[in-house]
Amino acid sequence: MRKKIVAGNWKMNNTLDETKKLIKELKKEIKGVKLKGKRVLIAPTFVNLQPAVKKIKKSKIEVIAQNMHQAKNGAFTGEISADMLTDIGVKTVIIGHSERREYFGETDAILAEKVDAALSNNLEVVFCFGEKWEDRKAGNHFKVIEAQLKNALFHLEAGSFKNIILAYEPVWAIGTGQTASADQAQEMHAFIRSLIEKKYNNETADAISILYGGSVKPNNAEEIFSKPDVDGGLIGGASLKAKDFTAIIKAI
Ligand code: PGA
Repeated sequence: MRKKIVAGNWKMNNTLDETKKLIKELKKEIKGVKLKGKRVLIAPTFVNLQPAVKKIKKSKIEVIAQNMHQAKNGAFTGEISADMLTDIGVKTVIIGHSERREYFGETDAILAEKVDAALSNNLEVVFCFGEKWEDRKAGNHFKVIEAQLKNALFHLEAGSFKNIILAYEPVWAIGTGQTASADQAQEMHAFIRSLIEKKYNNETADAISILYGGSVKPNNAEEIFSKPDVDGGLIGGASLKAKDFTAIIKAI
């Protein structure tokens, strides 16, 4: 059975004090929430990862990174390597978020390198992808998704997919308050799973968790998560409030 996952992407939010406070509140909120078969991930900004890792000890929460560089080390000012993440106890990294693609020029080719670097350093990858509004309007969304997966992931062996979580995030739904409908999410998730089945096999397709991201809130999470191919969510804005994030965790 594939795992249900709720991941909070904190983006460029929260100072050190705020990070500690939010984790404390979250630990309190999720006490007593049944988490069997579920994972709860939070992604603070780089500078607060290590204190966050310390803070979540003895809880069910996992601290993950929002990004990493593909090179092992070297002259890449301002960047962070896979080694640096594993060294402080981070085991999972988000790769390919649309904000990285849009504002920092991360192409499919770069993302393929990042995925390789992460996996070869034993990091699990939350791989994000999604179409823009103009793609959907023009009816090209399935084609765009297929190309994103092919270009960044389909060079991998089937076995690598046990260390990959997919996060479908239509760009037009991120931070806009406009979600894909539960049916639109299900339609795309089923398509993604069928692509993996075609390229690899049924077992790989069936085992992979596919998260939906884009304006998931306490009031719409349950409906989106009720769909058979939606295995959880990648949550931005609503992950910054312990009560809202917990309500979303409860909805899975
Ligand atoms: P949002 O962000 O929930 O604020 O739309 C989702 C994301 O970017 O992962």
